[in-house]
Amino acid sequence: MTYQTILFDQDAGVATITFNRPDKLNALNHEMLVEFEDALEKVQQNPDIRVLLLTGAGRAFIAGADISEFLKFGPLEARAFARSAHETGFILEDLEIPVIACVNGFALGGGLEMAMACDFIYAADTARLGQPEINLGIIPGFGGTQRLSRLVGKGTAKEMVLTGRMMDAAEAKTLGLVAQVFPADTFMTECRKVAQALAAKGRVSVRAAKQAIDRGFDLDLKNACLLEVDVFALCFASPDAHEGARAFLDKRPPKFL
Ligand code: COA
Repeated sequence: MTYQTILFDQDAGVATITFNRPDKLNALNHEMLVEFEDALEKVQQNPDIRVLLLTGAGRAFIAGADISEFLKFGPLEARAFARSAHETGFILEDLEIPVIACVNGFALGGGLEMAMACDFIYAADTARLGQPEINLGIIPGFGGTQRLSRLVGKGTAKEMVLTGRMMDAAEAKTLGLVAQVFPADTFMTECRKVAQALAAKGRVSVRAAKQAIDRGFDLDLKNACLLEVDVFALCFASPDAHEGARAFLDKRPPKFL
């Protein structure tokens, strides 16, 4: 598939998907959703890719679902669009490699929702984030009412969704929505540095850590800790576990799989 609305780039173990409708602030339309899903399948099938970055061209990460498509929606079309965006979110969330949302500008509505389906969010200090759907007479439909409350708590999620206000990156960091904030002029360089560092870590332990956190999150603490014990034990099925310890004792950098 040749892409009209996204860019796909791979540099060694790091792939980058760039949402690319800058004139429309990368508003997420049907075509972009189809192309994004195709690119995610490409990532899923390529074992050489160890980290995925998502970002946007121009002033936005994604300024929300494409509002111009709403005019032709009845409930059935709206349902199909939201279902399809949710499926994309689940594909994203289920990738075994780390996925970083690099929020370079506006991440609004569906944009913030796609970012929240990533493992974590980095933001440029100029970024603006929010769930403004209430101002359009609708509610978030790509996971915003669910993932946001799990990330920032129910009260803050309600405050954001009900007021529809935008916040800056610094506030989003204090809420725990954003993991790190970097200056806009060096933003993607900083994100790529982290991605390269993650790509050099052990493939098995990175996947294990992600799985343990994701799968344990909805369990009660005791079962979640038992899950951690099993995943911890499984790490020792990979030579990386002994290589990590040996390299530390030999005072040299580890060579992971
Ligand atoms: N859907 C469709 N088009 C959008 C869009 C969206 N979600 N967000 C921005 N655009 C388009 C604008 O219509 C405009 O197109 P035009 O130049 O053809 O008129 C272009 O992108 C630039 O946006 P503009 O509003 O002129 O930029 P701004 O800097 O004045 O404002 C925002 C930026 C993000 C505050 C404003 O675009 C906005 O509120 N967007 C909608 C956000 C939203 O409600 N998202 C949730 C959707 S469910």
